[in-house]
Amino acid sequence: MAAAPGTDKHVLMRVENLSLHAGGRELQHGLTFDVLAGEVLAIVGASGCGKSTLLRHMIGLQKPQTGHVTWTAGGANRDVHGDDPPHREIGVAFQAGALWSSMTVGENVMLPLELYTALDAPRREQLARFKLALAGLNDPATFDAEPAALSGGMRKRAAIARALVLDPPLLCLDEPSAGLDPLTSARLDDLIVRLKRDLGTGIVLVTHELDSLFAVADRVLFLDVQAHTATALGPPDELRDSGPAPVREFLTRGKYQSHDTEHPQPKEPA
Ligand SMILES: Nc1ncnc2c1ncn2[C@@H]1O[C@H](COP(=O)(O)OP(=O)(O)O)[C@@H](O)[C@H]1O
Ligand SMILES: [Mg+2]
Repeated sequence: MAAAPGTDKHVLMRVENLSLHAGGRELQHGLTFDVLAGEVLAIVGASGCGKSTLLRHMIGLQKPQTGHVTWTAGGANRDVHGDDPPHREIGVAFQAGALWSSMTVGENVMLPLELYTALDAPRREQLARFKLALAGLNDPATFDAEPAALSGGMRKRAAIARALVLDPPLLCLDEPSAGLDPLTSARLDDLIVRLKRDLGTGIVLVTHELDSLFAVADRVLFLDVQAHTATALGPPDELRDSGPAPVREFLTRGKYQSHDTEHPQPKEPA
C-alpha cells in the first residue's frame, strides 16, 4: 500500500489519475505512480504514446485536464502546477539536449545558478565546472566552448550538467542516448548509475534502448499506446518474465507489437 500523500519521505513525486492530451485527443488516462528517492524509473512505450508529454506534465510545463502531480519530498505537498512549483528541485534534460547556442557551455550550465541563487560569479563558475566534470566533461576548455563545437554525446552531458547544477533530488531525462553511438550511450548509462548511487538522485528516464534499460532501471512504467494507459509498472526483469504481452515483447526484443514508426525494426529474413 502506498502511504498517504506527504507521509513517506522516500516518495519524491506522486502522480495521481493523470490524463494526457495533445492536439485534441487523449493520449493517456488514469496514470497513477510514485517516483521514489534514489530510483531510476524508466518510462517506455511506442512512439507517440505520450512519454515526452508525461515528462512535461511532471515538471509543470503542461497542466493536466485531469489528475494531479504532487511534489512530496521531505513530507511537503506541493502541487507541481500550483503556486509553489518545485522548479529548483527538478533537473531536466530534454530530448534535443537543448543548450542555448548563443552562450558558451559554461554559461549554459551557470544559468540556473544565476536564475535561482544569490551565489557570486566565481562560486557559480566553480560549481558549473564541478558539475561538468561530474558529467564527464573534464577538459577545462569545454567550459568556454560553444555548444556547436561539441559532439552530440558531449552536448548531452553538458545538458545533464546544467540539469544537475542546483543539486536537484529529481532528474528527468528524455531519451538521453538517442542518436549516440553504443559506447557513448554506455558511458551515459554509467553516469546515470553514478548519480543514483553517489548522489541519491531520483531519475526519470524515457528510453527505448533495452541495454540501457536493463543496466540502469529499477522500475519500468509501460505506457500502452492502444489502451491509452499504463499497463505495467515494476522491475524490468520481472516485467520481461511475467508482464503483459506487449511489455514482454518490448523487454525481450526491443520492439513494440503496435506500429512503431519512429523506431522501425529491420525485417527478419523469411
Ligand atoms: N503540442 C502538441 N500539439 C499537437 N500534438 C502534439 C503536441 N505534442 C505532442 N503531440 C502529439 O502527441 C503524441 C504524443 O507525443 P509525445 O509525448 O511526444 O510522444 P512520445 O514521446 O511517447 O513519442 C504524438 O502523436 C504527438 O504528435
Ligand atoms: Mg518523446
